Amino acid sequence: MNGLRVALLFGVCIALLCPMEMRSQDLTHKLAPALSLARDRLRQMVIAYGDSVRYPRSILPNGQWRTVRPTDWTSGFFPGCLWQMAGITRDSFFLRAAERWTNGLESVQTYDGSHDIGFIMVCSFGNAQRVEPCPEYRTVLLQSARTLLTRYNPTVGCIRSWDNRKWEFPVIIDNMMNLELLFWASQHGGTRAMYDAAVSHAERTMKNHIRPDGSTYHVVDYDTLTGRVLAKNTHQGASDSSTWSRGQAWAIYGFTMAYRYSHEGEFLATAVRVADAFLRRLPADHVPYWDFDTPGIPNEPRDASAGAVAASGLLELSSFIEDEVLRRRYGDAAVSILLALAQAPYLQTADGSRGILGHSTGSKPAASEVDTDLIYGDYYFIEAMRRALALEGAANQTESVR
Ligand code: GLY
Repeated sequence: MNGLRVALLFGVCIALLCPMEMRSQDLTHKLAPALSLARDRLRQMVIAYGDSVRYPRSILPNGQWRTVRPTDWTSGFFPGCLWQMAGITRDSFFLRAAERWTNGLESVQTYDGSHDIGFIMVCSFGNAQRVEPCPEYRTVLLQSARTLLTRYNPTVGCIRSWDNRKWEFPVIIDNMMNLELLFWASQHGGTRAMYDAAVSHAERTMKNHIRPDGSTYHVVDYDTLTGRVLAKNTHQGASDSSTWSRGQAWAIYGFTMAYRYSHEGEFLATAVRVADAFLRRLPADHVPYWDFDTPGIPNEPRDASAGAVAASGLLELSSFIEDEVLRRRYGDAAVSILLALAQAPYLQTADGSRGILGHSTGSKPAASEVDTDLIYGDYYFIEAMRRALALEGAANQTESVR
């Protein structure tokens, strides 16, 4: 046997004998600075906003957090960040802060003004129930699901996203995320109708939001009398026919989550299709531009939040894939995105920075929150780190991928 073959055989043996332990040590080591920075920044935010009834949303040009009321779609992410950090560290500082910021959202359980009650309550009360389960959290989540269900239209077969005059019955790809509230509630004392509505919405989205190449439309408008599609548009993307990066990331995460609750194979297959479309178009440095088709690339802002959402979704997706090669494909892609985000310029390491993950874009067409820190970018970044460590067996035993 020549030297090269011996070396190759030795390499394969090493990889087979201890790949998990080596990978998990390596990943723990590489993510440690980002986790430590996230812990410090969250601690500073809790101290700075101790008495506030408003919730951090994005970093303003003056470097301060812009804060919003509890019914804003982003209000659940700060308590969600605190619960994630509480779960990772088991530090009572984060546990108490997470409780306080979560309880501040209790009134949202009857807010029926948009589909975003799903984002708000799953990230706050949903994480609370995961980390420190109690009957009060469950009661709030069940009422929130009842409220969300009032936005379901059986003729359309979907939850209505927004109430505005531009569309008759708009459903946005982001709405896949809100289904988690209905799925969870249906399995924890809620009703069959919640489950059926979530499945119907996911099926309609699969049919009408996804293009043959696996990319996604942002907004689909429906006729409430017939249920037929009236228009396919965008709101935050570059054009109706382009692919808004965060929308594509919501689709990866949303269809994977729908599979987690329903075990419907078509949702898993759809998650794979939209994941493939995302990864095919991801730049070589692993961080998406705000829209995959905006003509100004490479002179366009990134959306690190889309990368964080996709990384978290891909990690869960990989956990459902039986084929070893495919499982690695999605897991490795997620880790590549995560490691790109876990260093400068995306990780906000500069002295005086208040956020965690920079270079995210809320809405480029509206010139709103462009190339800045967004609290949901921070949330999915921390979640993706937690999931990556759990998948590699490097998280503490109370932490899981879900
Ligand atoms: N769900 C709103 C957004 O992703 O910007």
